[in-house]
Amino acid sequence: MLPYLPEKFTAVVIGANGGIGNAMVNTLLANSQVGTIIAVSRSSFLPTRPNVESVAVDVSTSTGREALAQHLDGRPVHLFFNAMGILHDTASSIQPEKRLEQLNETSIAHVMHINAVTPALLLSSLKPCLQGKHPTIIASLSARVGSIGDNGYGGWYSYRASKAAHNMLMKTAAIELSRLNKQSIVLCLHPGTTDTALSEPFQARVPSEKLFNPTFVAEQLISVMAKRTPEDTGSFWDWAGEPIEW
Ligand SMILES: NC(=O)c1ccc[n+]([C@@H]2O[C@H](COP(=O)([O-])OP(=O)(O)OC[C@H]3O[C@@H](n4cnc5c(N)ncnc54)[C@H](OP(=O)(O)O)[C@@H]3O)[C@@H](O)[C@H]2O)c1
Repeated sequence: MLPYLPEKFTAVVIGANGGIGNAMVNTLLANSQVGTIIAVSRSSFLPTRPNVESVAVDVSTSTGREALAQHLDGRPVHLFFNAMGILHDTASSIQPEKRLEQLNETSIAHVMHINAVTPALLLSSLKPCLQGKHPTIIASLSARVGSIGDNGYGGWYSYRASKAAHNMLMKTAAIELSRLNKQSIVLCLHPGTTDTALSEPFQARVPSEKLFNPTFVAEQLISVMAKRTPEDTGSFWDWAGEPIEW
């Protein structure tokens, strides 16, 4: 599965009840190389399984991150997979913006907080579990639209900007962590358009062969991670294993 990691490795999955996060937990669970999975979500991960520790906290708050850090208690984490993110939220009236006049400072700040700031703060809170001498893969879901070089269409201001900021924060963390753990690999990953609640309102124009099942995506992303080495730390890849320009 992930030959770089030891037998019975410990994985933390953030967003364990989201479309891709849930598929990742279930795909990991099906493999005997995995020891313990810490499934982190605002709601409990169900059904309960012997090797799944469900941590029901909101990691977008400092209280939630502190509770997660306390739960982990400094134990070495071999796979940190972040699948949290927001594109739209009806309750907060957040929709991806097509035009400048649709920009709203509260919405931009919230999207930035969930997509960019929180993943970085999580690495800060979990640093004791990531530094050391153990092999560790830190993968955080980004999006191709966060690539500045690839931005040919415009639109989706907050989401694009938050993913670009996410990528810079991960790249910077990769450099620091490479000094603190020579066996660390930090990756930004693009899952492709995946059939989840996040993409649901925007699927109409997506050809069926380009709309992926979350389980397929989880398997693809594991294959992409399986090919990486510490020399790749601080890089950006798509679901097919192709590098993406920043
Ligand atoms: N689906 C796609 O087509 C696509 C394409 C490119 C990139 N991505 C990226 O892939 C990642 C996973 O997306 P998905 O498609 O699986 O979406 P999803 O099904 O909507 O899941 C999103 C996850 O983000 C967490 N989340 C959302 N808002 C939050 C908030 N306010 N506070 C705390 N947690 C929050 C949720 O956590 P809970 O478990 O606590 O509910 C949920 O697990 C995202 O980063 C997304 O940007 C997705």
